[in-house]
Amino acid sequence: MTTATPEAGESALRQTMVVGNWKMHGALQANADLLRSLRAAPPAGCAVSVCVPFPYLAQARELLAGSQVAWGAQDCSMHEQGAYTGEVSARMLGDFGCRHVLVGHSERRRLHGESDAMVAAKAERALECGLTPIVCLGETLEQREGGQTEAAIGLQLDAVLHLLGAHAARMVLAYEPVWAIGSGRSASAEQAQQVHALLRARVARHGIDAQSLSILYGGSVNPANAGDLFAQPDVDGGLIGGASLQAADFQSIIESAPRH
Ligand code: PGA
Repeated sequence: MTTATPEAGESALRQTMVVGNWKMHGALQANADLLRSLRAAPPAGCAVSVCVPFPYLAQARELLAGSQVAWGAQDCSMHEQGAYTGEVSARMLGDFGCRHVLVGHSERRRLHGESDAMVAAKAERALECGLTPIVCLGETLEQREGGQTEAAIGLQLDAVLHLLGAHAARMVLAYEPVWAIGSGRSASAEQAQQVHALLRARVARHGIDAQSLSILYGGSVNPANAGDLFAQPDVDGGLIGGASLQAADFQSIIESAPRH
């Protein structure tokens, strides 16, 4: 693949990150309040980003300009450009100044039929355009109860690793068990650590410096459970849905993140 800054041996700096996923929520006035409160309390030692709906990217860009808080989108097309009505390309997002883009969120996989191969192609488009893809993966409840967690996330991860090759070092991974998303039932800190360690080991087997990769946990993170989750050695922060819409909760989650 060709990328904006392509070099083999490249790696993103592993860092603590807290990323908000607004999903399909928001309105101009409420967003303005939320974004202003975020920029008023700049994080120290923790990267913070918000992934907002496309129409609000301009608002995020304006209200977060000059702050420590980054912003991005929740999806991009697997295609570079062309007759794909309704799609938004990674190049457009990069052009506009997005830093991050979520790819492969379970809601996209489940509700919009995105396959592992499509998700990998989206991650590749993002890297080509200088964006950091936050690649989401996770098992369903059925898979977990059937002892298939490792196999399920392994397939999702391998598709991305095979396509991106050495460039995979520049992605961020987000482990989001499907059963934990929006359910109020987070994975326990031990469950999260176990899967994060598996993911890191699998990345390392592909010859990538897995110790430099940030792996976030997502799924019902809230101010009460964030500290335990983030204290795990292989959990580098979180991808936060519902709680990222409440300024006080999001701020409190950010404060729970270990500082490096
Ligand atoms: P949640 O969502 O925090 O509301 O569970 C997380 C996500 O879907 O990214």
